[in-house]
Parts: sequence; C-alpha cells; structure tokens
Amino acid sequence: MDWRCCFLLLISSQQILLSKGTSERGAFSIWYKLDCQYFRRMKEIAVIGAGTMGNGIAHVFAQHGYAVTLVDVQSAALERALSTIAKNLDRQVAKGKIDEGQKSETLRRLSTATQLDEAIRNADLIVEAATENQEVKLNIFKQIDAAAKDGAILATNTSSISITQIAAATQRPEAVIGMHFMNPVPVMKLVEVIRGYATSDQTNDQVVALSEAIGKTPVEVNDYPGFVANRILMPMINEAIYTLWQGVAKVEAIDTVMMLGMAHPMGPLHLADFIGLDVCLSIMRVLHQGLGLAKYAPCPLLVNMVAAGKLGKKTGEGFYRYTPGSKEKVAVM
Ligand SMILES: NC(=O)c1ccc[n+]([C@@H]2O[C@H](COP(=O)([O-])OP(=O)(O)OC[C@H]3O[C@@H](n4cnc5c(N)ncnc54)[C@H](O)[C@@H]3O)[C@@H](O)[C@H]2O)c1
Repeated sequence: MDWRCCFLLLISSQQILLSKGTSERGAFSIWYKLDCQYFRRMKEIAVIGAGTMGNGIAHVFAQHGYAVTLVDVQSAALERALSTIAKNLDRQVAKGKIDEGQKSETLRRLSTATQLDEAIRNADLIVEAATENQEVKLNIFKQIDAAAKDGAILATNTSSISITQIAAATQRPEAVIGMHFMNPVPVMKLVEVIRGYATSDQTNDQVVALSEAIGKTPVEVNDYPGFVANRILMPMINEAIYTLWQGVAKVEAIDTVMMLGMAHPMGPLHLADFIGLDVCLSIMRVLHQGLGLAKYAPCPLLVNMVAAGKLGKKTGEGFYRYTPGSKEKVAVM
C-alpha cells in the first residue's frame, strides 16, 4: 500500500472512532498501534542489560520487526544472550509458532554493543533491564538521558525500584516509565506499565500501544513499592522460605502443596530459583523499606543463600541443584 493511502486511512479511521464515541485515549491507542504496524514510527529499540530479561525483551521486539541493539558491560553476557535467543527461536520453530525465515529475520534485526552512548543515540525506545540495584540504575539513566535523542522513551524493567526516583535522575521525567516484562518474556503475556509521578499521558499511551503491538497485554498501575505483581508475589515467596527455614516442611513438599493445592504452575521455591534469589532479596528489601512493615522483612535463610552465592538456576544452585543442559532438578533441603 502506498504511504499516502496508509496515512489517509489512519487519519480517517481515527475520525470514525472519535465520532463513534471512542474516547480520545482509546482512539489514540488504536491509531498508534496501526501506525506502529504500518509506519514503524518506532524503529529502533535499545535494551540495556543482556541477562535473563534483557535477552527475552530483545527477542520479542526483534521478532515483531524492530531493529534492536542489546547493550551490556560484559561481552560474555552478550554472547550468552544471542545463543539463548537462537535456542528460544528454534523452540518456536519446532512448535510451529514461527518459520525458519522469521527466525533468521529476527536474528538479522539484532545487534550488540558494550558502549551505551553510541548504541542508544538513535533509539526511539530504550528499555533498561540491567542488574536490580538502585545505584546501577540511576547511573545508567543519567547516561541514557545525556545520550538519547529528544522524543525517545526511557523505560525500565525494574521489578521494584521507584520509577519516580529513576525519572528524577534525568532531565526528562515525563518520558520515563516502567515497562515490567515477565519471565520468560517470549512466553508471558503481561507487561505491567508503571507510571511514575511525572510520566506524561503521551509516554504512557505510547508504551501501552507499543506493548499491544508486540503481542503483549499491558496493565496500567501506579508507582508504589513492588507495584502490583511483586507486592503480591514476593511476600508469598518469602513466606515459603520462612516455612522452609522454620522446618514446617521440605522444599519439594512446600512446592507440591502450592502446585497441587492452589493450581500454581510452579512451586514458590522453584519460582524463586528461576527468578534469581538475589532479585527476590532486593525486592523484599524495597518492600520492607518502602512500606515500613515487619511483615516484609526478608527471611534470614534468603539473606544467607544470597551471601553464599546460591542464587538459583543462574548459578546452578538455589533451593534445587540444576544440571546444565538438563531439565532435571534435585531439592537441596
Ligand atoms: N529475573 C526475573 O525473573 C525478572 C522478572 C521481571 C523483571 N526483572 C528485572 O529485570 C532486570 C534484569 O534482571 P535479570 O534477571 O535479567 O538480571 P541478570 O542478572 O540476569 O542480568 C543483568 C545484566 O545487566 C548487566 N549490567 C549490569 N550493569 C550494567 C550496565 N551499567 N550497563 C549495561 N549492562 C549492565 C549485567 O552484566 C547482566 O548481564 C532487573 O531490574 C530485574 O529486577 C527480573
């Protein structure tokens, strides 16, 4: 279709939606989604941090037609991320969700970099998915703010750090927003879209529409400790760890109760290993500090395991021991 026809179609469709009583924000969202699909107004995406989440976020954007630069301070993390993405694409091909052509197109849209400034200069959207540490994130956002072009959206995938505080490290808090993807990103539908104190409607609406354009379901929430997902999930995981620490039951028994009794697809201790025990601990600390209640105190066993470097699946051991390249897991306690 000629671009002029597309443009006229988009403008008239917006007018029709408005005349049919669709709210201005609703019409904007539908219009923006079409605009994303036909004009790819957002063309370039930079993802900062190539760990568990960064590789999944890069995968999904590249699969939906965006040029993605994945940035990490460690080149080894970038190599691991590319190989994980290739493996996950193979799995999608085997399941018939995409074909070989789409797999190679997706890989072709991905590039990597270790220098943040250069890598984000032309990005329309920057999604930060680096280590869950406030100082690290504030420094990254200062750097992004200095290098990103005007009009870029600055998103963070933080699980718990205040969006308002991250935004305050920049000169453009209206363009900063939380875009909280779930693990594993290519599979999980939810994106928790978190508005900071100064996030503009325009930034919010663009991120909501963009999340829909990449096949996700955005849910809008406000910026309070843990947002919604982790405000509810992490205290449950922490309680499961207290239950283990106090000798109420063993690892597999606790997970089995929650899977068979509550229809959870994965037990809370297995899930904690999957998320990373360091990530779980830092979220509990944010809830404890931010909400000021003793019920959010992290379990001493969780604190000890993180100090011992037993961070879960990514280090080979947490509540379970994992064999690389195998799905097998053996409970440690
Ligand atoms: N793991 C989960 O299940 C999960 C779910 C939702 C959100 N999150 C959030 O996503 C973010 C990333 O978590 P993860 O589990 O992928 O962590 P991870 O430890 O797997 O990866 C973090 C990556 O960030 C890189 N990094 C650190 N400092 C950097 C910098 N200055 N510049 C560029 N890269 C840098 C590290 O080298 C590492 O590769 C965190 O904010 C976390 O809270 C995690």
